[in-house]
Amino acid sequence: MPNFVSLPGFRDFYPDDLAVRDYIFRVWRDVARRYGFQEYDGPPLEPTELYIEKSGPEIVQQLYNFADKGDREVALRPEMTPTLARMVGARAGGMRKPVKWFAIPQLFRYERQQRGRLREHFQLNFDIVGDEGVGADVELLAAAIDVCRAFGLTADDFVARISDRRLLRALLVHAGVPEDRLSLVYNIVDKLEREGPDGVGERLSREAGLGPSVVSEVLAIFAHRDFDAVRNAYGSVEEIGEPIARMHQLFDDLEAMGLSRFVRFDLGIVRGLAYYTGIVFELFDVRGELRAIAGGGRYDDLMGRVSPADLPALGFGMGDVVLKELLIDRGLLPSLSPGVDDYVIGVTPDERSEVLRLVRALRDAGRSVDYSLRPLGVGKQLKAASGMGARRALILGPDEVAAGVVVARDMAAGTEERVPLTSLFPEELSLS
Ligand code: HAM
Repeated sequence: MPNFVSLPGFRDFYPDDLAVRDYIFRVWRDVARRYGFQEYDGPPLEPTELYIEKSGPEIVQQLYNFADKGDREVALRPEMTPTLARMVGARAGGMRKPVKWFAIPQLFRYERQQRGRLREHFQLNFDIVGDEGVGADVELLAAAIDVCRAFGLTADDFVARISDRRLLRALLVHAGVPEDRLSLVYNIVDKLEREGPDGVGERLSREAGLGPSVVSEVLAIFAHRDFDAVRNAYGSVEEIGEPIARMHQLFDDLEAMGLSRFVRFDLGIVRGLAYYTGIVFELFDVRGELRAIAGGGRYDDLMGRVSPADLPALGFGMGDVVLKELLIDRGLLPSLSPGVDDYVIGVTPDERSEVLRLVRALRDAGRSVDYSLRPLGVGKQLKAASGMGARRALILGPDEVAAGVVVARDMAAGTEERVPLTSLFPEELSLS
């Protein structure tokens, strides 16, 4: 007997699962609307080239890529940012800046399957193109925080950890990391939390070829957890003045927005993707039990590498997988059983045509309505009505049809009343 199952890391969305997904998308779209972001989409399949080098080695290793029948090297999109950069770049000249766009693509990464990581996921993307000022970083972070708040999550549930690639870059160069190995080093130190200083130190020497003193200088950078500690330790490094001032501004603005309790400076936030150039951030659950809820930052050079428009840009992505786990864990998923407004019941098979007419008229009037497709006893029909979460049962027997009424049963309260059929729907749709 054949018994097909879905591929590892790919989900079936049964109706209950889809109801949750829809709920998440609804909240995402609502926050996007409140922030004035416009929705777009792009192709799920792109030239592999779009991701090579731009996204960095981690994502390239995880590509679902192949040669198509026309011998084109193609890949299922593992992320949306290169597509966004390509699309905005192609028409940037005629667009009002800043461009504020959002999308909810399904993305594909051949990852090792683990809690919070699948081989496909849906990812909310917010991006702002055409503004190099820190005000745009503030707006983006506020949006990321407000997306979480819109689900009922509080500062006891999540925190945005923020760093700056320019600051980190200055510190790494100061520690002796050669410029041409910076992206490799970003990629390795991004795993500090998961692999620990020993594991990361070993990779820094083996994979990035750094000498022992440079490795220990690099690891020392991440021992400084807060802003003041970094400033005190590296105040003499000339290049850090600007990123430090920018970070101050960011925190001041977030405070003015009343969002300070959701943010924390953390140099350990590096981001695995290659294209980030400025402020970067990730959102985590406060208890530290789950993978990142969201991540993003500024990528001022990417647009110029995939399109004719060399514009500053920044954005973040938030997946549906970790978010859903967190909402379940905190009891924040609302009851989503859709049910129907009415379930129409015929007492005997003789009322069949009245039942069908009533169903039709109610549906035309915009109500959600169901009924038994086959003749069934009243008891079974009532059971079906309650099984599918109908809010009201409308019962038609021979007496009701003769009197032009229907018994309306409030399914939650269990109360019944006889109501004229004409009161149920507009005059022109009446049964008679
Ligand atoms: P990312 O950090 O690779 O960034 O992904 C963002 C979020 O997507 C993660 O924090 C996580 O919630 C979710 N995610 C990523 N991979 C998986 C997976 N395999 N399974 C489940 N969820 C996953 C980016 O993709 C950037 N392109 C975001 C961005 C937009 N940067 C600028 N604009």
